[in-house]
Amino acid sequence: MLSESACRQIQVLMGKYPQKRSALIPSLQIAQKEAGYLSSDTLREISAIFELSPSEVNEVASFYTMFYKKPVGKYVIQACTNISCMLCNAEEIMAHLTKRLGIEPGETTPDQKYTLMEVECLGSCGTSPVVQINEKYYEDLTPEKIDAILDSLE
Ligand code: FES
Repeated sequence: MLSESACRQIQVLMGKYPQKRSALIPSLQIAQKEAGYLSSDTLREISAIFELSPSEVNEVASFYTMFYKKPVGKYVIQACTNISCMLCNAEEIMAHLTKRLGIEPGETTPDQKYTLMEVECLGSCGTSPVVQINEKYYEDLTPEKIDAILDSLE
């Protein structure tokens, strides 16, 4: 359930746009920041606030990989495997991540520390291969660099 503070923030956001629907994405960000992910109850609550159908809100939340529909780990690793990254060994990076973490894309480690995701272009093709960990980009990656990054997160 959304907190009073989150509801207030969403109401303020909605007032900033001629069409309140334009505030949907930042409102989903507020809701996710609060709970760590967007539960179906939260999505229903937001659909009521915006006077949209739950499926309309669900469509938006499902389109963007930045929205999580189930609980995630402390660190969410989004590994790009799109064309530029693929040509620069993204498959090797993904294989290294799955081996080191012991999970497949879409899974979370048992200690809830890491969630691994395979994503489309992160918009940093010139520095492929790229992963995003929470809100930070890591570029020009090699398996050795991945190890150093993960060690720094331990
Ligand atoms: S293809 Fe990976 S960042 Fe664009």
